Amino acid sequence: MDPTLAATLTGWRRHLHAHPGLTLHEGETAAFVAARLREMGVSEIAEGVGGHGVVATLRRGGNRSVGLRGDMDALPIAEQNDDVPWRSTVPGVMHACGHDGHTAALLGAAKLLLDDASWSGTVHLVFQPAEEGGGGAKRMVAEGLFARFPMERIFGWHNWPGLPAGTIAVHERAVMAAGCRFEVAFEGHASHAALPHLSRDPMVAAGHCIVALQSVVARNLDPLAGGVVSITVVQGGEAQNQIPHLVTLKGTARWLDAAAGRAIEEGVRRVAAGIAATFGVAAAVNWGPGVEVTANHPAERELAAEAAAAIGPLRRDVPPAMTGEDFSCFVAEIPGAFVWIGNGPAEGGRELHNARYDFNDAILPVASGFLAEVAKRALRAG
Ligand code: NI
Repeated sequence: MDPTLAATLTGWRRHLHAHPGLTLHEGETAAFVAARLREMGVSEIAEGVGGHGVVATLRRGGNRSVGLRGDMDALPIAEQNDDVPWRSTVPGVMHACGHDGHTAALLGAAKLLLDDASWSGTVHLVFQPAEEGGGGAKRMVAEGLFARFPMERIFGWHNWPGLPAGTIAVHERAVMAAGCRFEVAFEGHASHAALPHLSRDPMVAAGHCIVALQSVVARNLDPLAGGVVSITVVQGGEAQNQIPHLVTLKGTARWLDAAAGRAIEEGVRRVAAGIAATFGVAAAVNWGPGVEVTANHPAERELAAEAAAAIGPLRRDVPPAMTGEDFSCFVAEIPGAFVWIGNGPAEGGRELHNARYDFNDAILPVASGFLAEVAKRALRAG
């Protein structure tokens, strides 16, 4: 990539990092995206698609089409990178997942495609809001993304700490897990803490349930299948000398195929009911909603691998992650593939969703280059 464009993209990425838009509040980011596209000479820009989504269209005849997606939202995390000039200026909000880099890289891909005379067809650049649990992809699809902007296939990516900077990982099938949030509420009968025989104690039931839930994956799933059940919130009790009447457990479950997902849900419901019966309380399980598995389609996976091999080092042996990704909504509708691009070493806790995370600007040329390359290959592909 021309060093001037790389420097421009770095400047844009840092601007976005300094001015993050929380999930469902990406208006300023969307306006920035549309302004940069207009400066490049893009005339077809649809704003407000599925919330703050922006879809820009590059059209050069032909009847072939492809979509490229970048997500734009930030997280409710207070940044701890005091040492960088592009530190977040919004209290309690930061780009801790590198979506600032995804947005900048998609702008870079637009520029590369505009300056490249070698392709024909239609490229839709999908700047997606509300990826972080805000249902942004689902809303874009529901509001007619693929009807308004028909595309044969779609490609996306995520920056990946721990993978060498600029290395592109293409997965065989599953890239990111399916998952959902769930709650288990135990309702009993409150009493004085010193008169426990007068209670039906939901606290003791909840304690046993936390432990028993760890057998759901361990004893119901094939050990080689991916599955996670994590309890992350325990709510209940006010007074230290009262056994409360209600304790609620909240958590998240993840899986890589639908059968594992059904087994996990059945397991959680069975354990909750069994524990409730054992301790003489009532259990109510609230399951979902969640995201589906982000799985590559075979032909698009190969297109992504060919584009990756042309741009940077390619890895095809990286296992999927149990994190979730909204891109799953797109590849549930049309064929597509999702790759990871290494962000470099995850030093000093610089992992995704960490208060010290920072996107690596050095990978912007690889990311923009990959997106432009895969789009061109998709437009030529059979
Ligand atoms: Ni992310």
